[in-house]
Amino acid sequence: MRPEMKIITTIQELRAELKAARDAGKQIGLVPTMGALHEGHASLVRRSVAENDVTVVSIFLNPTQFNDKSDLERYPRTLDADCQLLSACGAQVAFAPSVAEVYPEPDTRQFSYPPTDAVMEGAMRPGHFNGVCQIVSKLFSYVEPDRAYFGEKDFQQIAVIRRMVADLGFKLQIVPCPVVREANGLAMSSRNTLLSPEERAIAPAIYASLVAGRNFARSHSVQLTREYVEARINAVPGLRVEYFSIVDADSLADVNTWSDALAIVGCITVYCGSKPIRLIDHIHF
Ligand code: PAF
Repeated sequence: MRPEMKIITTIQELRAELKAARDAGKQIGLVPTMGALHEGHASLVRRSVAENDVTVVSIFLNPTQFNDKSDLERYPRTLDADCQLLSACGAQVAFAPSVAEVYPEPDTRQFSYPPTDAVMEGAMRPGHFNGVCQIVSKLFSYVEPDRAYFGEKDFQQIAVIRRMVADLGFKLQIVPCPVVREANGLAMSSRNTLLSPEERAIAPAIYASLVAGRNFARSHSVQLTREYVEARINAVPGLRVEYFSIVDADSLADVNTWSDALAIVGCITVYCGSKPIRLIDHIHF
């Protein structure tokens, strides 16, 4: 029988638990999350469980990465259900600290990795990636994982974290994991639970338009493809494109032609409904 998953809330206890594992030569995988877990998170946890001896999943709704306080307030909180899901996936440790435990003092560190953190989400949500780097660097130093797992849904986040890992010299492997989608194509996200049934019905048009855009791109320029995708989504009542950027998948700098980079990705953020809920997605061209 599998030992019960431990729920740990202090850094001291976490460090003691992991020291024992490391001293015994065990490999440690970390899956950072903000809770409100869904099948997308479960896929990261299962992968970590398959590749490591000990999987730690952090559940921490990090205030420093929310530039919009109302977004933080309405973010779903489902700790009991989260722990059940993690235990069923075979995680050994859920680390769910308080804000005071993680930030006994305000974190004044500044991270800056232009252009990667300055464009798209970085431009629309000032300070967002600084907050992500603050918490992820803290988690890396508490856990000292061999591998850390991140969902590719947050494509730009992975690019920024890679830059931070290189900058600070963390010795770990970043493992990007594919987007998990609902049957209708909608990328799984904790924010999807905030959508009304009507909004859930229109949100799949985002990915459908990205796929249509990839086909359109075979015979059209970057600029026309950008306009095509934006127009298709904006034509759906209740959806409004905030930005659709077609960028070099590595640097995230804008491209002007399809031969400007080896790998090109289209990253989109769309407002859905009247609240409205911000949904992000991307597609590889
Ligand atoms: O992707 C997320 O859920 C968060 O940005 C992360 C990486 C857990 C940091 O709070």
